[in-house]
Amino acid sequence: MAHTTEPTDTAARGGTVSLADLEARAVARGSASGYGDDALIVCDRLVRVYSTDGIEVQALQGLDLLVERGELMALVGASGSGKSTLLNILTGLDVPTAGSASVAGCDLLTMDAATRLRYRREIVGFVWQQTARNLLPFLTAHQNVMLPMQLRGGGGPGGRRGRKARADELLGILDLAHCRDLRPAQLSGGEQQRTAIAVALANSPDVVFADEPTGELDSNTAEQVFAAFRRINDELGTTVVIVTHDAAVAEEVRRTVAIRDGRTASEVLRRTEVDEHGQESVVAQEYATIDRAGRLQLPRDFTEPLGIKERVLLELEEDHIQIHPDRA
Ligand SMILES: Nc1ncnc2c1ncn2[C@@H]1O[C@H](COP(=O)(O)OP(=O)(O)OP(=O)(O)O)[C@@H](O)[C@H]1O
Ligand SMILES: [Mg+2]
Repeated sequence: MAHTTEPTDTAARGGTVSLADLEARAVARGSASGYGDDALIVCDRLVRVYSTDGIEVQALQGLDLLVERGELMALVGASGSGKSTLLNILTGLDVPTAGSASVAGCDLLTMDAATRLRYRREIVGFVWQQTARNLLPFLTAHQNVMLPMQLRGGGGPGGRRGRKARADELLGILDLAHCRDLRPAQLSGGEQQRTAIAVALANSPDVVFADEPTGELDSNTAEQVFAAFRRINDELGTTVVIVTHDAAVAEEVRRTVAIRDGRTASEVLRRTEVDEHGQESVVAQEYATIDRAGRLQLPRDFTEPLGIKERVLLELEEDHIQIHPDRA
C-alpha cells in the first residue's frame, strides 16, 4: 500500500508544511465533507448584518451550529450576542445575509413565500417570551390549539373531529385539561406558556423553538414550563431548542451552546454517571467549539494571565496540543 504523508506532525514540529497550508486543507476538507448530513438543524457560517441609517450591525458573524433530531438543547449568551437573530432565521421570520441554514432539509435562504408559510406552519413551532404574543386573547385554550390545524387546512388528520381530539390530547400531555375552555386572561403565566407549547405542537412540527419562554415567570413556574418542554421531548420526540438567560434551565439539558459576538463559542455537555454504589450524578464538561475552518476561540481568562496576544506557538503531542505564549 502506498504511504500517504500525514502532514500534521511535521507541521507542528517545525517541518515543511506551514500552518497556513494546514488551514487551507482543513477548509477544503470541510467543504468536501457532508457537514451536518444527519443533523436536523444545520447552520454553516451564518451571517446576518442589519443596516439601519448607514450603520451596520453584524448580529451573526459566521455562526456554525448542528442540532440532531430528538435533542433538547439550550442556547445561552450575553444580551446582544445574536440569540434572537438566530431564532428569527431558524423560524423563517428573517433571512440571513450570507452562509447557509437548513432545518429538516428546508433551505432557509432560498425558500419562496409559499414554502416559507408552509414551513412556519408545519415544520417549526415557536414559543416567545411575551406570553401575550403566543395566544389569541379572545379564543379559549382549546380554540388556540385548534387554530394552527385549521389554518393548515386540507382537512387535516381525521378532519374536524380528529383536530379536536388532537387539541385535547396536547392539553392533556401538558396538564392543561382544566384550562380547556378558559381564555388566556383567565390562565396563570405558566398555564399560558404551556398552552403556547401546545399551540406550537399542534401541527406536529419537527422542532420547537422557544425564545426566553420562562423570562417573565417566577422560578417555580419556570420550572414547570421547562418540565413541559422536557415532557414533549421525551414523549413526542420533538426536538426542542430553548434560548434562555436562566442558568437553572440551562443546567437541565444535555447540551448548552454559548453564543458570543454572533458565533458559537463554547458548549457544555452533561451526562449521567453511576458510581459503584449505584448513585447517579450529573457530570458537566465545558468544551470550546472549533469552527469549520478549525478556528478556536481561547477564553480571555486563559489568555490574559499568560500574556497571550496576537500569536501562539502550537505543539502537537501524541494525544493533545500544547499552546504556548510567544515569549520571543
Ligand atoms: N432589527 C434589527 N435592526 C438592527 N439591529 C438589530 C436588529 N435586531 C437585532 N439587532 C442587533 O443585533 C445584535 C444581536 O441582537 P439579538 O436580538 O439577536 O441579541 P440577543 O442575543 O437575542 O440579546 P437578548 O439576550 O438581549 O435578547 C444586537 O447588537 C442588536 O442590537
Ligand atoms: Mg433576544
